[in-house]
Amino acid sequence: MTLDSGSHEPQHGADQRRATTLISTKAELREHRAAMTGTVAAVFTMGSLHAGHLALVQRARGLADHVILTDFVNPLQFGPGEDFEAYPRDLDADLALVDGLVDVVFAPSVQEMYPVLPPTVSVTAGRAGTILEGAARPGHFDGVVTVVAKLLQLTAPDLSVFGRKDAQQLAIIQRLVADLDLPVRIEPVEIQREPTGLARSSRNAYLSPEGRDQALALSRTISAALAAAPSVAGIRAALAQAVDRAEIEWDYALALDPGTLEQVGQDHRGEVLVVLAGRVEGTRLLDAAVAVATAP
Ligand code: PAF
Repeated sequence: MTLDSGSHEPQHGADQRRATTLISTKAELREHRAAMTGTVAAVFTMGSLHAGHLALVQRARGLADHVILTDFVNPLQFGPGEDFEAYPRDLDADLALVDGLVDVVFAPSVQEMYPVLPPTVSVTAGRAGTILEGAARPGHFDGVVTVVAKLLQLTAPDLSVFGRKDAQQLAIIQRLVADLDLPVRIEPVEIQREPTGLARSSRNAYLSPEGRDQALALSRTISAALAAAPSVAGIRAALAQAVDRAEIEWDYALALDPGTLEQVGQDHRGEVLVVLAGRVEGTRLLDAAVAVATAP
C-alpha cells in the first residue's frame, strides 16, 4: 500500500505508479488540485470498483498528468423505490484496486457533499432524462447531472472520462457540459467486453451459464446494427429483426441522435447511437454502440 496523506510529486504516463492520497473534504480537494501542475483527469464513480472502472482510470492516466478519482454514492440519483442504504460500499477494497494508479481518491460524506439535502438549487437533465432508462427511474438523471456538475466544479479537471455502456448518461453529461459551457472535455471510453462479446457489467454475475449465452443476443444485435451501417434503414432493420427473434425480453432497441437522444429519421446523417436494453433471467442488461450514417 502506498496510500499516504501528504503531498507528492506527480508523474505523467499510464505505466508509472504514483502515491495515492485519500481525502474526504472539499477543502483538502481544493488544496491538492491547486498543487497539481499539468493536465488533470477526473474519474467519477460510486465506488464498488471493478474492471470497467479500471479501464476508465487507465484511459485517464494515458491522457493526463494527474488523475483524481471520486468515490461517492450519490443519494440524489436514487429514487424512492431504490435502496440507497443497501448500495454496496467498500472503500478499502476500492483503495486497494486504484492504489498507485491515481493521485487522489476523493471520498466525501453525504453531509460534506450536500450540507443541505436535497439542495435548494439543482440541475435538470430535461426531457433527455425522462426517456429510456429515465422513464423507469424518475429523477435519476437530474441527480446524476447535479452531482457531476458539483464534482466538475470541485475537481476542475481538463478532462473527465465516462464509459459508453451508460450511453444515456454519457449523452446527458455531454449536454450538461455543452449547455452550461463547462470548461472540460468529456472523453468517452469504449465498452469493455468479455471474449464472447458480452459487455462487461457487475450484473453479469447474476446470470447462469445459459443466461450468459442468451445475453449474447445484445452484443450480436450491436454487431448486426454496425454491419448494416452506413444506412439508417439497415440499422433499423437489424434492430427490428433482433426484437422479432425475441431471444431475450427486450425493453428497447433504438437508433438515436446522440445529441438529443431522439430517434433518428431515415435521412439522418452522421453519428447514430444504437442503444439496447433487455432482461435475461430477470437481470436488466444494457449495450450500446455508435455507428455513422452516410448513405440512404
Ligand atoms: O456512473 C456512475 O457511477 C454515476 O452515475 C456517477 C457518474 C459517478 C455520478 O454519481
